[in-house]
Amino acid sequence: MASRRAVEDMIRQGRVLVDGEPARLGQRVDVSGVRITVDGVPVPVAPGLVYRLLNKPAGVVTTAADPGGRPKVVDLVPTEPRVVPAGRLDMDTEGLLLLTNDGELVHRLTHPSFGVDKEYLAQVEGNPRPAALRRLRQGVELEDGMTAPARASSPGAGLVRLVIHEGRNRQVRRMCAAVGHPVVRLVRTRIGPLVDPRLAPGQWRDLSSSEVADLYAATASPSRAEAGRPGEPAAGTGPDVGYDAVP
Ligand code: URA
Repeated sequence: MASRRAVEDMIRQGRVLVDGEPARLGQRVDVSGVRITVDGVPVPVAPGLVYRLLNKPAGVVTTAADPGGRPKVVDLVPTEPRVVPAGRLDMDTEGLLLLTNDGELVHRLTHPSFGVDKEYLAQVEGNPRPAALRRLRQGVELEDGMTAPARASSPGAGLVRLVIHEGRNRQVRRMCAAVGHPVVRLVRTRIGPLVDPRLAPGQWRDLSSSEVADLYAATASPSRAEAGRPGEPAAGTGPDVGYDAVP
């Protein structure tokens, strides 16, 4: 997660704990049997864990098995070790999807109590006006209840950028339709701290260990469900991935 030298500094500063005890310089540990944290954030050191970041194309299903025989996201990454998607995207939704065999991270990224932000860029019918964006920010009444406050902006004609943390079924499509702008195309551009503007549709890459550590840090404590609180910046002002136009 950092250079050897930087890690040695962290150890000297007492920021690294092995099973709750301060680590010592030169200490040897069996990484399969200990819990290591830096500043309280678990370091994913178990051998054999893989983290595949996929840019899901449209027309591919997220489910592990599809009776209809449609193409599946697991067919787009190596079959071994077996990985599962951390969450789901609709068949027609494109963009970032993490597949991993790290069950703890899947739990953190999918359980609503961790409230990880997910950012979407939607091409919609019509041109959303400020009133529609305001409704998206404040919460929209859907058939399964009000949505939590979200961050919403319009980076261009016919586009909505939306940051949500709930992950209800077809949530972005339903929210946009509810404010009068049905979605024509939907791309997920960010999962918590994770972005990748260069990953082509259908391509995947392994996460770096610092990206994994960032994901753990972003999900360190449950009940962080707070996107869209008054005073937060509008959607699109954080890390971005450059899907400026949705053709
Ligand atoms: N919201 C949707 O409507 N669809 C997705 O695939 C993800 C979020």
